[in-house]
Amino acid sequence: MLAGKHILLIIGGGIAAFKALDLIRRLRERGALVTPVLTRAGEEFVTPLSVSALAGSKVYRDLFDLGDEAEMGHIQLSRVADLVLVAPATADLMAKMAVGLANDLASTLLLATDTPVMIAPAMNVRMWEHAATQRNLATLRQDGISVVGPNEGDMACGEYGPGRMAEPMEIVAAVEERLVDGPLSGKRVLVTSGPTHEPIDPVRYIANRSSGAQGKAIAASLAAMGAQVTFVTGPADTPPPAGVTVVRVQTAAQMLDAVTQSLPADAAVFAAAVADWRVEGASDRKLKKTKDGLPSLSFAENPDILKTVSGMGADRPKLVVGFAAETDDVFANATAKRQRKGCDWIVANDVSPETEIMGGSENAVTLITADGSEVWPRMDKTAVARNLAARIADALAQ
Ligand code: C5P
Repeated sequence: MLAGKHILLIIGGGIAAFKALDLIRRLRERGALVTPVLTRAGEEFVTPLSVSALAGSKVYRDLFDLGDEAEMGHIQLSRVADLVLVAPATADLMAKMAVGLANDLASTLLLATDTPVMIAPAMNVRMWEHAATQRNLATLRQDGISVVGPNEGDMACGEYGPGRMAEPMEIVAAVEERLVDGPLSGKRVLVTSGPTHEPIDPVRYIANRSSGAQGKAIAASLAAMGAQVTFVTGPADTPPPAGVTVVRVQTAAQMLDAVTQSLPADAAVFAAAVADWRVEGASDRKLKKTKDGLPSLSFAENPDILKTVSGMGADRPKLVVGFAAETDDVFANATAKRQRKGCDWIVANDVSPETEIMGGSENAVTLITADGSEVWPRMDKTAVARNLAARIADALAQ
């Protein structure tokens, strides 16, 4: 529920602006107060009258509207809200935000605000994938802005791919996650999850059986406790949870980049099953069958992301948690791993086939800290996640 929460909704100019109308209804159904701001381009897609009627509030449109300044100055307008939500966030608005331009009401509010900001990007797939937009996105994330979507699918412009604005209910879920007051409110936590895919050639890759279920459950529990979660995920079976900032990667090298760009964070949980090796000199052409026999692959070692982050100086999160999936001598191996990687905690589990943990819904873990070890009874992966999130909240409160 969002009872009494005040949301400043900036509606950018794009075909997805029509979904902002439904978004206003959904937010208000949950008790939120919505103050809408419509950009000039936004007015080309939805009318100020329909926005104001649905929001039950005046629509703010112009920076130099003296009437508004007398009622409520733009600085004050930017500060009254609990959250500034930009939906749709166009490529243009994102670029303005990333460089700090303030040449209209929306961009001025975004620069002047000291409240949390969330964006729901929507644009053509090529614009989304353009290096400039991806650079701006990384900058915005680094500035602590949460991002919901975009989703992949058919687009109004006739193309297919990522760029569709997240559905109103997904945005509402993300807003709810962001605004719940919980023990982790105001904390930034990074979670890695899923497997990595290491290419052999453009069509083949090396992977592992991680489903991403445990990482997803941990990210969801942390977000439910109020944390601002960045979820860096390899190609997992399960979709990411709502209410977290999702960064999708394929390879270990990309995961390391994404992790480094998501810092600083108060805590980091490395639940991803990162491939230890990549194929050296992966081919950019499909390998063919030849008369000369089988191709031979040589391997190179991947970066150890957990170890790299654990060894960081100023940027090291206060709490670094690693996982150890072992099939033998779980306790001894995991304890040695904690030392070797330099992390604070290790969540160790026995993934021998008879446990059916890998890919299953349950997990049996031992938490290894500097103070010793705790054996947790076998439980659902969501219960493991809740317990771990609670322990993280305790540790960060110290
Ligand atoms: O060395 P091992 O793969 O068993 O260690 C598991 C832990 O290290 C997990 O937390 C995993 O996410 C992390 N890891 C990593 N980067 C790697 C390999 C493992 O972050 N290249």
